[in-house]
Amino acid sequence: MDPHSSMQTQTENVLITDSDLSEQIKSVTKDSHVRAENTELMLSYQRGQVSLEQYKLLLCSLYKIYEALEEALDSNASHASVAPIYFPQELARLESIQKDLEHFYGQDWHEKIVVPAATLRYAQRLREVGSEHPEYLVAHAYTRYLGDLSGGQVLGRITQKSLGLKDGKGLSFFSFPSVTSANRFKQLYRSRMNSIELSEKEREGVLNEAVTAFEFNIEVFDELQTMLRVTDKEGELRHRHIPHKQK
Ligand code: HEM
Repeated sequence: MDPHSSMQTQTENVLITDSDLSEQIKSVTKDSHVRAENTELMLSYQRGQVSLEQYKLLLCSLYKIYEALEEALDSNASHASVAPIYFPQELARLESIQKDLEHFYGQDWHEKIVVPAATLRYAQRLREVGSEHPEYLVAHAYTRYLGDLSGGQVLGRITQKSLGLKDGKGLSFFSFPSVTSANRFKQLYRSRMNSIELSEKEREGVLNEAVTAFEFNIEVFDELQTMLRVTDKEGELRHRHIPHKQK
């Protein structure tokens, strides 16, 4: 391949070309990223108007998603397609989400969390990939973790501001204390992705799986919004039937 024909980015001795997995995965998920940004939930975020109910429900789903993702990554930690992108110390989110859930729902959060069917389907696929196609895990890890280290950082600031949260309480999910520079870490992660050896068929499978991973996220966000509309309606109805107290 003529190196001059490909776009190249030189960062800290890491040469990335457009035939690399990190570039291909970014390019095949470009439209999906736009669609994810345009879900009602993400639009609320971009307007800086996330509600406590939205955030709490999102945390419940994220718990189920990361539980399945991190279980699949842990049990395949030494698999040749997983080992290069296995960074539990830097990236693992499950404990942070548990802390946030405890903050909002209390000690018995486990009995209170609400999880839509779309989230269960996503978690189910993650388990399936973990046991049948560990080489596809990179697609799922990329979609969540690189997203968390990119737009996710802005979402954290918006959550903090719009909910008036103090001292990082309820915001652990967005915080990566072991990552000093998100940008440099993303560069390292991309170069590790690019070091994974994949056959043509496997690479195609990984790229398809990344699009699927975005799709799962979109479905989760959409269903969360539908659940919120139903609860709003029920609240409205209850409210209408309760006579106002005389002042
Ligand atoms: C990258 C914004 C939602 C997954 C990025 C970047 C921005 C961004 C600005 C580029 C950062 C860079 O080039 O260094 C947003 C905004 C969102 C949003 C504003 C919603 C309000 C999402 C969602 C997902 C996601 C819902 C997936 C579940 C990703 C991934 C990357 C990324 C995987 C890395 C792309 C790459 O460099 O290969 N996002 N994002 N984003 N985002 Fe998002």
